[in-house]
Amino acid sequence: MKKIVSIVGARPQFIKLAPFSKAVRQHFNEVIIHTGQHYDSVMSQQFFKELEIPDPDHNLGIKALGHALQTGQMLMALEETLIKEDPHVVVVFGDTNSTLAGALSAAKLNIPVVHVEAGLRSSNKTMPEEINRILTDKLSSLCFAPVESAMESLKKEGLKDTSLLTGDIMVDSLAMGLAKADENAVLNKFELSVKDYYLLTLHRPYNVDESVSLKQMLEKLGGLKKELLFPVHPRTAKLLDHLKALIPPNIRTVEPVSFAESLVLQKNATACITDSGGMQKESYILGTPVFTLRTETEWKETIETGWNTLLAPALTPQNMISDTINSYQLPQNRPAIFGKAVAAAMVNHLLARF
Ligand code: UD1
Repeated sequence: MKKIVSIVGARPQFIKLAPFSKAVRQHFNEVIIHTGQHYDSVMSQQFFKELEIPDPDHNLGIKALGHALQTGQMLMALEETLIKEDPHVVVVFGDTNSTLAGALSAAKLNIPVVHVEAGLRSSNKTMPEEINRILTDKLSSLCFAPVESAMESLKKEGLKDTSLLTGDIMVDSLAMGLAKADENAVLNKFELSVKDYYLLTLHRPYNVDESVSLKQMLEKLGGLKKELLFPVHPRTAKLLDHLKALIPPNIRTVEPVSFAESLVLQKNATACITDSGGMQKESYILGTPVFTLRTETEWKETIETGWNTLLAPALTPQNMISDTINSYQLPQNRPAIFGKAVAAAMVNHLLARF
């Protein structure tokens, strides 16, 4: 059997790895490397357990702060591990520092790189994720594009010959996660009723790294008529600690939730309010409208179909966020833009190429 090394490090990558790993192990010898980027149990181990992902063969334990230090330490440790493992191909997922470090270390060792979730572009180079995506696509021997617009971006950048439209692996992740979920138990745990609350998540540096902008955004969300449940990412928690007294009464903060809980909470919410990329598409697939607290999105199809609305906090006047959300009307149609049986399609392409 040929050997594949899958490199992951952050929460959204564990979610993508679950269906991929299950499908790939039927035909390849898979070795998993965890960079250690996300290390809290609620952000990492619990996801491996919940999604039944095999334990990582290597955990590099890199939790350094700062992009240069984090990426640099990953490069050093990944090169050493990849030389030892000597795989036929390396697979990286998404757009984090672990993605870029994985792609760069493999490419320098002349190991072919496959990028799952390639071609997404926000056209905002102040996002570290945008830089990670552009460079990873360029370094990859094979780019798996999740949606048509991603494929178009890859073609425009001259990467047509190394790109394939496969659909989005998170369609499979979502089916796996929801199959395990007990919806009533989750709603009871958080004392919520169907379609009677909003789900809020925030972790982008430009939204959560300055107390003034975070405070103003929370104030604006205070104008919503229903309760907001707010599972707090560790990055956001650091700043929120100083703002506790200023959080409006309709916002309830809780620890990060499990994947199954996240899906149930998204499915049953009136709407999701988020700056996460993954939640924009999960909510779409689950039929819940989403309001994205950013100036732009990589998931252009969700905007075009009317299910996703951009609300840039800094540019939006005091009442506009709550007015827009309070008066939103559901669109008539929700086309299947993310594909189906995606992990199996990816494995077929891998078998054909490697
Ligand atoms: C990273 C990814 C982002 C992805 C997000 C998902 C990059 C550049 N960004 O952002 O694309 O959407 O993960 O969650 O790679 N921390 C903890 N415990 C943890 C993990 C992180 O306390 O388990 C702390 C870190 O020490 C750091 C901060 O949270 O201070 C941010 O973590 P980091 O991994 O740098 O980036 P994220 O904001 O999570």
